[in-house]
Amino acid sequence: MERRRNTAALLFPILAFAILLFAGVSFPGTRAFAETVPQPIAFPHKVHVTGYKMNCRFCHSSANKSQYANLPSVEKCMMCHRSIATDKPEVKKVAQYWKEKKPIPWNKVIDVPNHVYFPHKKMVNAGIPCLTCHPGMDQAGTAEQKLEFGMGMCMDCHRKKKVTIDCWKCHY
Ligand code: HEC
Ligand code: HEC
Ligand code: HEC
Ligand code: HEC
Ligand code: HEC
Repeated sequence: MERRRNTAALLFPILAFAILLFAGVSFPGTRAFAETVPQPIAFPHKVHVTGYKMNCRFCHSSANKSQYANLPSVEKCMMCHRSIATDKPEVKKVAQYWKEKKPIPWNKVIDVPNHVYFPHKKMVNAGIPCLTCHPGMDQAGTAEQKLEFGMGMCMDCHRKKKVTIDCWKCHY
């Protein structure tokens, strides 16, 4: 009896998925929109990436090594800003966090729902450029999300590149 109830509990989400699919529900594909989030410092991506030709992975160095792409530490900023633009008010804020030994409390910009598994390293190491999924980041101030990561967006590319579209590869 107990066992049966467990099976039913397991089957329900699977059935829900199946019904959604066979009812022909179309999942959102690539939709453009723009979202910005207030940040403690007006960090300009454009100045660093386009102006000074810095590679995205200089700052987001775990993008090819782990599930998540990290944000740079204050220490990394100070490699340059100990001596560069030290008179600029926004750079003074960086130095203040450094002095107080506090991390900069950046707000998160991009997120997929918790039931989705998105391993950065797999796609970065397959040679997909950062700007394919984060368009405009070479021209941005603080980060903006311009693509909505609907399931259709993932599926379109996976189909095109003959990568898995197995539900359980992307869903926990
Ligand atoms: C490799 C060197 C380097 C690193 C690392 C670096 N920057 Fe910069 N940053 C620069 C240069 C060069 C400029 C342009 C300065 C200028 O125009 O006078 C700049 C400009 C800025 C400005 C704009 C200043 C203004 O108001 O004009 C801010 C803010 C800034 N950086 C913050 C950061 C933060 C935060 C980090 C760490 C996440 C960081 N930088 C890491 C080199 C660097
Ligand atoms: C195939 C699409 C894709 C590519 C390629 C890609 N990203 Fe992402 N990125 C995403 C998605 C989706 C998220 C949200 C992930 C999440 O919420 O777990 C994200 C989130 C991020 C974040 C926030 C931290 C995190 O991991 O959630 C940073 C920073 C980032 N990406 C930087 C990069 C950089 C730098 C590159 C290139 C080296 C890159 N991304 C390549 C899709 C991509
Ligand atoms: C000098 C360091 C530096 C470089 C170079 C850099 N970034 Fe960033 N990036 C940051 C910082 C600091 C933040 C956090 C503030 C913000 O949201 O803009 C950030 C935030 C992001 C986010 C949003 C993370 C989140 O919270 O969801 C993405 C996506 C991103 N960067 C992508 C890129 C891409 C793509 C490139 C190359 C075109 C790049 N970055 C180059 C420092 C850098
Ligand atoms: C522009 C193309 C592209 C987009 C967009 C894309 N992917 Fe991928 N993805 C790939 C490629 C190519 C691989 C294969 C890497 C490999 O073979 O190791 C991959 C691999 C994966 C894997 C590993 C699969 C395995 O067999 O282990 C997962 C999980 C994944 N992607 C999830 C996502 C999710 C979730 C999204 C949407 C938020 C997404 N992908 C968007 C191209 C893409
Ligand atoms: C390549 C990655 C990927 C694969 C494969 C995938 N999904 Fe998804 N799925 C996603 C992403 C990303 C979202 C989050 C969409 C959003 O935020 O709107 C999602 C959302 C969903 C949702 C929630 C609907 C919604 O609008 O939030 C359901 C249900 C779902 N997927 C079912 C499935 C089923 C069933 C399969 C197998 C046929 C499947 N997924 C395969 C990436 C994937």
